[in-house]
Amino acid sequence: MRLLLLASGTGSLVQAVIDGLANTGVEIVAVGSDLADAPVLDRARAADIEVFSAHPRDYADRAAWDQAFTETVAGYSPDWIVSAGFMRILGASFVSRFGGRIINTHPALLPAFPGAHGVRDALDYGAKVTGTTIHLVDEGVDTGPIIAQFPVVIEPNETETVLHERIKAIERRELVHLLRFLEHGTLEVSGRHVSGYTPSAP
Ligand code: GRF
Repeated sequence: MRLLLLASGTGSLVQAVIDGLANTGVEIVAVGSDLADAPVLDRARAADIEVFSAHPRDYADRAAWDQAFTETVAGYSPDWIVSAGFMRILGASFVSRFGGRIINTHPALLPAFPGAHGVRDALDYGAKVTGTTIHLVDEGVDTGPIIAQFPVVIEPNETETVLHERIKAIERRELVHLLRFLEHGTLEVSGRHVSGYTPSAP
């Protein structure tokens, strides 16, 4: 299975996937970013994984970036693409080319708190429970069919950083578990409903 990872930041999820898939039949064919200086790219280089980056501001418009990004990714012939902390909305070309084979992790229980600040938005709203969602990517923002969800009870006075780290600990474990499943298993998708996969026990 050829796996391509997209990320923008520190890349602790990407690191977990690199570590968690070692000695499996999953090959991480590349790690891509919108940011040339994203620390995640150094993690990938350290693991001898190819990297690439492309920022929209270096293209005539968003559509041109989308097209170029799509072509670059297609060049690696991935079976699955994981947006593991990729902080940019994937474009229409990208989604139409790879739709059904793109996975995203979002640090909230969708459809609550979509967008770039899922953890902060849950705290600001006064939610008592939040969590993480692993889902397929469609054309919308955090709207695709849900593969798995994991609740996290918010502690009194918890900060965004502490809460996000607790959520990310679950994301790291569950993303690896899902990808190990996908090496041999198949997700069945019918409209919004995804079946055929059992997450690891909490
Ligand atoms: C994760 O919480 C992911 O769900 C979100 O961004 C975070 C990435 O964290 N989209 P890291 O950069 O891998 O530590």
